[in-house]
Formats: sequence, structure tokens, C-alpha cells
Amino acid sequence: MAINSTGLPRSQGAGEESNHSTQTAVAAVQALAPTNLRCVECLALYPAIEAGQSALPVPRYRCDCGGVLDVEMVYTHPNQHERQNADLFEADTDALPTSGAAWRQLFDERISSPPLWAISTDKQLLDASGVWRYRELILPVPDEYIISRPEGNTSLYPVGMENCGAGRIGHRQIGLYAGLDLFFLKHEGENPTGSFKDRGMTAGVTMANVMGAKAVACASTGNTSASLASYAAQAGMRGIVFLPAGNVAGGKLAQTLAYGATTVQIEGDFDDAMHLVEHVCNELGIYLLNSLNPFRVEGQKAIGFEILQQLDWQAPDWLVLPAGNLGNTSAIGKGLRQAYQLGLISHMPRIAAIQAEGANPFYRSFLGNFAERFSMHAETVATAIKIGNPVSYTRARRVIEESDGIVDSVSDAQILAAKAVIDRSGIGCEPASAATLAGIRQLVERGVIKRDERVVGVLTGTLLKDSTTGMPQGRSGIVVKPTLDAVRSVLAQ
Ligand code: F0G
Repeated sequence: MAINSTGLPRSQGAGEESNHSTQTAVAAVQALAPTNLRCVECLALYPAIEAGQSALPVPRYRCDCGGVLDVEMVYTHPNQHERQNADLFEADTDALPTSGAAWRQLFDERISSPPLWAISTDKQLLDASGVWRYRELILPVPDEYIISRPEGNTSLYPVGMENCGAGRIGHRQIGLYAGLDLFFLKHEGENPTGSFKDRGMTAGVTMANVMGAKAVACASTGNTSASLASYAAQAGMRGIVFLPAGNVAGGKLAQTLAYGATTVQIEGDFDDAMHLVEHVCNELGIYLLNSLNPFRVEGQKAIGFEILQQLDWQAPDWLVLPAGNLGNTSAIGKGLRQAYQLGLISHMPRIAAIQAEGANPFYRSFLGNFAERFSMHAETVATAIKIGNPVSYTRARRVIEESDGIVDSVSDAQILAAKAVIDRSGIGCEPASAATLAGIRQLVERGVIKRDERVVGVLTGTLLKDSTTGMPQGRSGIVVKPTLDAVRSVLAQ
């Protein structure tokens, strides 16, 4: 079904003002012409935008064989573009600036002078976004389509025993716990809605805008829904989210409701919600924004690009992250592979995806050399990764295989212990994110990650959305009478 026939009454759709003038629509379609979607199972190829019977764009999330799709595009450095135009007059294509150095220079120039808002203009500050700064590697759409907060620009904390300065005793405890000298934590919880999901969402909602969508939807364990709700509100689209009832942290639910998304709580788990949302989107022509949507993955690649830039393009030995639906593993892996292919970095980091023991189908497949694809009923305190049948299995499998990576599994007790260390250091994160540190500690203990290797761990979400799981005893603090004696007696303990 064509995308902007949402199946919803018009009054429920976006405002009448659409960004979709015919002229810019044509420009967007032209810009996306060299972009294709490749099936990760049977390798069939589709254009990024397909026209339906009424000439309206029709979204495609899967191949006709049922396989998941991956974006394929041509990366054109702006100077190369200028050069090619000049070449119409003087044919000298040898010196095209496609080297890693030219890309590094482009991205470093964009970060070096902070863009400022000009008065009374709606000019986009794309260089201020930790996603669109790398726009030639993300999505080739005209600037006016881009829906950005902006996002990204999250901290990369040096927390290893050697690379954490003496003045940062708290942060150093994390390096001690992991057993690593050169260790960084990339805190994606510092994104506008508090999780890494904003990076994929800015690309996904931008694509929804290109498609002229009036409503967007996803199934979620809470962070994607909050992000979708925020970006949909910004774009004037209707947000619709399906959540597993009773299994979403309070802050994530509150956020989603506050941003105004229609919030449907399914009496089932995430996998049920995922199945339903795909069906509903296809039936009603609502634009689907789970990581099944290949353009979300493109935006999320920027986590990898930004880490590399923050490390002055010196790739780490390992990149470690929590894994649920496997969108992030697929995205970061793809981004790092592209960075390597473009010569931005000189070697490909190894990727370690960490699952919770009660939700570890990918780990089970990994143990059997990916001979079998598992699914299971998921149970873990880390609700964000409580997923038993991950959608991006094949994409993520490719990442693990190509990066000589590894999948590991940690118990809820390990997750909560690691979370306490991250929280107590003053950095803090949500439970799922702590799987990263739990996994690193385990891999160092087993000798898989060596103590002197450079490791980056991704913290995917903020501490603030889940105010109950893994909080210390007496989390409401100590309550005393308003007297000096009472306060003194507490501080003397
Ligand atoms: N960490 C956090 C905080 C998450 O919210 C998620 C996924 C993950 C890790 C796992 O990433 O699914 O790409 O492997 N949250 C999704 C959601 C499922 O709906 O918010 P993944």
C-alpha cells in the first residue's frame, strides 16, 4: 500500500502543511536514484523508492523472499562531485579526492567550527548533528527533508586503568572492574531522548518525510518508542507505538506518552508486538520505523563514525555492545566496515555483541557457528534487550563473521553488578547498557580480550528512564527529622 494513504482518517494525520512539495519530491527521488536495497538472504536488488500504482512511493521493508534489506549506495565526496562537474570540461579523473584522508578532512572541518543559528532562518545545522555530519555516508537526501534535533555528539569517557587521569578516581573504577588499561565508554544515553535510538530515528523519520508519510509506527521495548514519538512530533507526523505491557521502564513509557504518540500496550512480549506492527503497517500504509527499516540502520552507523573521529581515526581493537533485536550490532558493524573500506581507518575492530542469558538466541547460534537460527521466550531484568527472535539476525551474523567478532552471554546478576559499578562511578546507565561492561569483564577474564588492547564499550541508554531496576537499597534516601542532631547522626555512620 502506498505510504501516504495511511488508512487513518485525515484529521488524525499530520497537519495540512506538508514538506512535500512536488519540486522537492522530485529532487529527493533523484538524489536517492543511485541508492538501492539489497536482500541479505537472496541478494535481490530493489530501488530505494518504488512507485506504486498511483505513482505514490511504496515502502519496502522486506524482500519478496521475506529477507531483510540492506541499503547500498554510492558515496560521493563533495569535492569529487565538484570535480566531476569540472571534468565535463577537462577530463582528469585521476586526482579524485576519495582517499581516507579526504574524508577525514571533510568530517574534521565540519566539527571544528560549531555552526550557529542565524536569526530568522530555518537553515539546517547539519554539521551540528553527530549523524548528519557524516551525511554522504548516511543518506543522500536534500537538506530540507532532514528531521534532526540534532543528535549524537555523545561523550567518549576514558575509563581504563591507564587512560583515565588520576583526577577521575570514580571513572577509573570501571577500568579496574573490566581489567583493562585502555578502555573508553561511549555514552549513547546522552542523545536527545536518552538512547542511541535517536541516531537511527533521525534517518528513519527523514525517510518517512521523503515518502510523504503522515503516520509512523514501531514495536519497542521503550527506547525506540520514545525516540519515534519525539521525532514524529517534531516532523508533524502521527506516532504509533506497540509496547509489551508491563515490560517497559516507567520513564520510557512516560516519555512516549508525553511526546504524544498513540501508545498501544500489547498483552504479550516484544516479539508479539513486532509481528503485529509489521502486519498493521503493511495493512494501513503506516511507515514502519523498527530497525527492520533499512534506513534506520544507516543512521545508527554514525555511532561508529563518531567513535572513530573522537579517537582521531585510530580504530580500537574491540568494540563491545549489548545486543537485542540486533539492529545496533548490524549498524555499528556496517559503519566500521565502510570506514575501513573508505580508508578512514587502517584496520577493522573486532565486534563483541553481548546478550542477556535469558534472551540469548544470537549467542546460541554463534556457539553452533551460525548453523542454526534460534528463537526463544525471553526473560531478563534488562527489559530493553528482552527479545527472543531478533529481526536483524542475518545482518548481525555478517558483522560478527566479517569482523572476526564474538557473541557472549551474561547473567542478570552480572548485568546488575556491572550497572552498580557504572552508576557508582558517576556515569550511570540503564540495565541493558551494563551488559557491555559485564561482557567485557568476562571476556578479559577468559583471555579473549587482552588487558592491553584498546576497547570501546557502548552504553546504549541513560540511567534516568528506569528508576527501579538495580537501584541500591533505600533508593529513596534517608529521611530524618529537620534537626542538626538527626543530620549529624546520619553523617557519622
Ligand atoms: N540497549 C538499549 C538501551 C536498547 O534500548 C536496546 C534496544 C538495545 C540495547 C539493543 O539494541 O535491539 O539494536 O540489538 N531497544 C529496542 C527498543 C529494542 O525498542 O527500544 P538492538
